[in-house]
Amino acid sequence: MDRRTFLRSSFAAGSAALLPSHGLAASSATLQDRVPGSIAESEIEGARFPDGFLWGMASAAYQVEGAWNVDGKGESNWDRFAHTVGKVKGGATADVACDQYHLYKDDIAILKRLNQKSYRFSTSWSRVQPNGTGPVNQKGIDHYSRLVDTLMEAGIRPFCTIYHWDLPQALEDRGGWPNRDLASYYADFAGILAKHLGDRITTWAPFNMPWTFTYYGYGVGVFPPCKSDFNQFLKAAHTVNLAQGEAFRAIKAAAAKATVGSAYGMAPAYPKTDSEADRAATARYHAMNNLYFLNPAMHGEYPKAFVGATPYEAMGFKAGDEKIMKVPLDWVGFHYYTRRVVSNASGSAGVGGHFGTETEGEGGGAARDPLTQMHVEMPTEGPLTEAGLEIWPRGIYDLVTQISREFNHPIIEISENGCCYLDGPDASGRVPDARRIAFHREILAELARAIADGAKVRAYHAWSLVDNFEWADGFTQRYGLTYVDFRDQRRIVKDSGLWYGRVAGSNRLT
Ligand code: FCB
Repeated sequence: MDRRTFLRSSFAAGSAALLPSHGLAASSATLQDRVPGSIAESEIEGARFPDGFLWGMASAAYQVEGAWNVDGKGESNWDRFAHTVGKVKGGATADVACDQYHLYKDDIAILKRLNQKSYRFSTSWSRVQPNGTGPVNQKGIDHYSRLVDTLMEAGIRPFCTIYHWDLPQALEDRGGWPNRDLASYYADFAGILAKHLGDRITTWAPFNMPWTFTYYGYGVGVFPPCKSDFNQFLKAAHTVNLAQGEAFRAIKAAAAKATVGSAYGMAPAYPKTDSEADRAATARYHAMNNLYFLNPAMHGEYPKAFVGATPYEAMGFKAGDEKIMKVPLDWVGFHYYTRRVVSNASGSAGVGGHFGTETEGEGGGAARDPLTQMHVEMPTEGPLTEAGLEIWPRGIYDLVTQISREFNHPIIEISENGCCYLDGPDASGRVPDARRIAFHREILAELARAIADGAKVRAYHAWSLVDNFEWADGFTQRYGLTYVDFRDQRRIVKDSGLWYGRVAGSNRLT
């Protein structure tokens, strides 16, 4: 029996008692007939998306570009990490990855063929400024300029994420994100991009998943630069909030047509029990993991993420920082992958240490950290993907409607959603990844329901255009709607890609 089958059968036997504690109503029909958390076929068939909805796909420079030392590119923190023995599964590196640096025209042709309207890509800072500060490497700018031109010729909106985790190593050597000076270096970089590309790019997101790279890199040490110090995380996160504000102004100053939003990682959180303590811990999770970079932008202040007072001193907060951070975003972008169940861990010391999957797992055990004092679980009530993440389609409805309510109905873009399945080509050369189609169908049905209920969602980006280098998991996970044979860079659009192309062409799921 595989893990999914096991989970389904053990759910029927043991989880009826678990459901009410998550605050999720379940009818007896759901329990008996359906996979937990799944969406009825009639809802999927009835789902509609508005005219002009932006169907898209996403990627990140380090995960797809390769060409790690080509045309003057400097070393990044992820180059250094992947070149260090024992850091990435299988000893993989992204030196070549999907070679999108050279093959971008082929990849954009796939986007066009699949009726895509938006491509979310990121820029490599060390390709544009090899040392993070100082002179511009014109060849780096030229690459992104060609990429943007090719997208626009194909009728696809370029959505630029300025920073998706790869920092010039030279800046890491100067202390990395805990060094407050990085805020203005980063704003200079953002301004350079806006100056050279802002005549064509109008959609900018300064940071991908800022909580993840600051916490994993400086708080618990599973991402570069592998530091495990909660105070370093607090400082890094504060620099990033300052950087977000300064970059917003630099982009707007350089590019009149620019709109600036975000690409935050978010997860709807549910209290483990109905106790006041668990509900308060869940609110802290929401503040720390979902709002820690959104609230400073929208309101110039940190959300209440801590058990006690906000630790301004440890963060390196200075008088006036609230004004630097406050840059009400033009639209709010966030990813949805899965949900969390949260309980109070006040009194239990220590930092949680188990990382099931590098980009999503936040581990259990004791309190995750000393100041937020919560215990965070990745539930297994619904089926799991091959990265071990629970499939919980209604989570996107809950998250989108929550953010809509809390931020006065902003324009929303889903900047990522996707699933890992390892399906490869069959004997006829087709990639029949039916599970990925099922995954996106159900989540999209729930997204359509949120739109029907008033949420102003204008875009959805599937992660990812192509299978790629999945950070510390190397090439052991495949999220692409296009299969990549990493031996020869051959691409095969998977069944899910063909299906998603039809969705993009019809605004419906059947
Ligand atoms: C997200 C990251 C993206 C990729 C997917 C699977 O958290 O933004 O780079 O790793 O997960």
